[in-house]
Amino acid sequence: MVNMAVRIGPMTLANPVMPASGTFGPELAQVFDLNRLGALVTKSVTPQYREGNPLPRLCETEAGVLNSIGIPGKGLDHFCAQAMADWRRFTPPLVVSLSADSVAAFAEAAARLAATPGVAAIEANISCPNLEEDGRAFAMHPESAAAAIAAMRAACALPIWAKLSPNTADIAAVARAVEEAGADAVVVANTILGLAIDIDRMAPKLGAGMGGFSGPAFKPIALRLVWQCAQAVRVPVIGVGGIANAEDAVEFLMAGASAVQVGTASFVSPNAMPAVLEGLEAFCERRGFARVSDLTGLALPGR
Ligand code: DOR
Repeated sequence: MVNMAVRIGPMTLANPVMPASGTFGPELAQVFDLNRLGALVTKSVTPQYREGNPLPRLCETEAGVLNSIGIPGKGLDHFCAQAMADWRRFTPPLVVSLSADSVAAFAEAAARLAATPGVAAIEANISCPNLEEDGRAFAMHPESAAAAIAAMRAACALPIWAKLSPNTADIAAVARAVEEAGADAVVVANTILGLAIDIDRMAPKLGAGMGGFSGPAFKPIALRLVWQCAQAVRVPVIGVGGIANAEDAVEFLMAGASAVQVGTASFVSPNAMPAVLEGLEAFCERRGFARVSDLTGLALPGR
């Protein structure tokens, strides 16, 4: 029997496998038992209604997907009053992804989520690449990232996971800044800005122009970001980026992640998350690891 539990700051998760924000909703319960996951993570919620970006918002490429969704949604009132009822049916800790366009709005929304029964933690989405009008992303700079996290920390006692951006010069500096500001974990990383051109229309394939790139081709980049962050901070790192099978997940854990998120792979194969979970357990069993948490950081320098 492998002990699959992992600690993420003050929380203990039954296992290290969870969805990446925005890549699934409660409807995936029709495919597999969501209660098997270590945590559930919602699509980013914003304080107010948002229309989202111009169509088309998705574009498949050879080795990944570009998206420019732009966080459409009905806003926080609707989320707390209606969407939460759907999520409360499940047993894993519910992590609510939160995006906002100002430090004050982040703090106010965090306080609101803390007062909402059933919210176990906040994933602070300070890294959406698709919000041009909002100055792109807080997580591009250590100072703006820290300001958003510090304001949320002051406004609520829930665990805060800071979702970092690959679209920055020095992600380790951003990780250190959010740790200092009170983040309980860092989620590494959001999608990386990319572009695809329609050569007949001679225009970008996405309505908004650029978009966030995810999927297999992003994996070595995300893995490198996890490795850098794991060496920069003491708080747990949650790895995300191109994870499609158990071996990918093992790589992220060995690079320093304490847990992993699966995103784009669930579009290709809706059973990707339970497959990663089963494969991880089998890997530990085969290699004689009594605890999945023993994999964390094994490939870091000096270990
Ligand atoms: O790639 C992304 N797309 N990352 C986000 O944080 C949000 C999402 C969107 O809605 O654009």
